[in-house]
Amino acid sequence: MNGGPGPARTVVAGQNLVLSFTAAIRTASYYGPDNAVLQQAVATLSRLLAEMGHEEGSVTIGVHSHCVFIGRSRVRTSVSNYERFTHLIELFETWEAGTLTFSEGLSEDELIRALKVLAEFRAAEPGDLADALLAAGVTQIRVDAVGVGAQPQAIAPVEAYAAAMQMSEEMSGEEGPHRPGVVRHLRHVTQAVVDQVLRDPRSLVALTTIKDFDRYLITHSTNVAVLSVLLGQRLGLSKSKLGELCLAAFLHDAGKLEVDPDVLQKTGALTEEEWEEMRRHPILAAHSLLANGRLTAPGMRAVVVAFEHHLNYDMSGYPHTEIKDRVSLFGNIVAITDRYDALTTKRPYREYNFTPHEALVHLVENAGTLFDPVLVKLFAEIMGIYPPGTMVRLSSGELGVVCEPPVVGAPLDRPKVRVVSGGEPGTIVALDERAGDEFARSIAGVLNPANMGQLPAVDPAIFALV
Ligand SMILES: [Fe+2]
Ligand SMILES: [Fe+2]
Repeated sequence: MNGGPGPARTVVAGQNLVLSFTAAIRTASYYGPDNAVLQQAVATLSRLLAEMGHEEGSVTIGVHSHCVFIGRSRVRTSVSNYERFTHLIELFETWEAGTLTFSEGLSEDELIRALKVLAEFRAAEPGDLADALLAAGVTQIRVDAVGVGAQPQAIAPVEAYAAAMQMSEEMSGEEGPHRPGVVRHLRHVTQAVVDQVLRDPRSLVALTTIKDFDRYLITHSTNVAVLSVLLGQRLGLSKSKLGELCLAAFLHDAGKLEVDPDVLQKTGALTEEEWEEMRRHPILAAHSLLANGRLTAPGMRAVVVAFEHHLNYDMSGYPHTEIKDRVSLFGNIVAITDRYDALTTKRPYREYNFTPHEALVHLVENAGTLFDPVLVKLFAEIMGIYPPGTMVRLSSGELGVVCEPPVVGAPLDRPKVRVVSGGEPGTIVALDERAGDEFARSIAGVLNPANMGQLPAVDPAIFALV
C-alpha cells in the first residue's frame, strides 16, 4: 500500500459524515419523522455511520477546543464547509456535550428520534441531553456530557475506568468469565480504556492509585489493565494489539477465583503450603480460560499472559517450566504492571506496602533480572520518579499527593501534586512552575502512607459523576 488513497479517503469520509450529521439535524428541525426528505437524510447518515464504524462497532463524533473529532482524529474543514462545521460546534456547546457515540445497533427509526431531540434540545443543566435521548427511547447513542466550565476531558477517563471496574467486578462474580455475552462486553470495555489512553495517555494514571482493600482483585485487575495499556501505548503497539493486551491484563489473575478462599483472604503471613496453593493461580487461570472453548487469538494470548505473569525476565519465578526460554512481550509487560500495583496495595499477608516511589525503585533495581529493562525504562518515563499516589513533602512545607506524572520531556522529578495540608488543601501545583530562575517548589521528601492511611491521587467521589 502506498498510503495515498487510504488516508485521503478517510479524510473525505470524515468530512462527509460531519456534513451529513449536521444536515440531518437541520432537516429534523423542519420535518416530521414521516417526511421523505428527512428519511433520505437519515438513510445517508446511517450508511456513513456504518461505513465509518465497520471496524470499531461504534462511531464517536465530538468537539474539543473548537475542533470536530471523529474518534480521536480531528476532521479538517475547508472554506466551503466552514460554516456547517461551526454550526455543529455550536450545537455541541448548546447540548453541553463533549462527544456522541453511535453504536452499530442504531436503527434508522431510533436515529430519527435522536435527531429530533438533537434539533430541539437546549441544555438546562449538564447530563440533560442523555436523559432527553433516553426519554425518547434512544439507547444506542451515548453522550459524554460536560458542564459549562467543567474540564471537558475529566469525565471520559473516569467513565472508562468505572466501566473497567464494573467489568472486573462482574468477572469475579459467580459465573465469572463463563457468563454469556462476557466477551462482547469485555471488548467494549477494553475499547473504552484503549481509546482513552490513546486520547490522553496520562488521564488514567491517577485513577490507578485507587485501591480497595476489600475488593482487591477488582481494583487490581483494572489497574493492571490500565497500566499495561499505557506501557503498550508508549511502546507503539497498534490499537488492536492494545485491545488484546488490555484483555489479557484484565484476566491475568482470573485463577485467583479458584484459589482456596481461606488462603486468599488469610490475614498474616502465609505458610509454605499456603503459598503453594497461591502459586497455583497462573495454571488455574490458564485452565479455566482454556475451558471456555472458543479460543480466538486474543483469548489465547490471555491464556499465555495468565500463565506467564509470575515468570520473571530471567525465567525464575513460577510456575516452573522447561518448555519456554523466554516470556512473551505481553507477559513481560503485565509482570511489571502487576508487580507495581501489587506492591503499592495493602495486602492481608504483609504489614508493609511500598510507596509508589519505592515500587518504582524496586522495578529499576531488578531491571535486567526480574523485569525486562527496556520496559522498566519506559514505565519509569510514563510514571515519573515520583509516580501518582506518592505522598510527598514539598520544599514549601506543604504535604501533598502526586496526582499526575510529568509531561513528556519535562524533568521526571517534577510531577503535579495535589496539596493535602500546609497550604490550600485540594489545590494542584505543578512542580515545573518557576518563580524567577528557580522552581517554585520541589520535592523535599517522600512519606510512607502505610503509617498515614492510603491516599489516592484522585478523590474517589468523582465516581459519583458517572
Ligand atoms: Fe498473579
Ligand atoms: Fe496480579
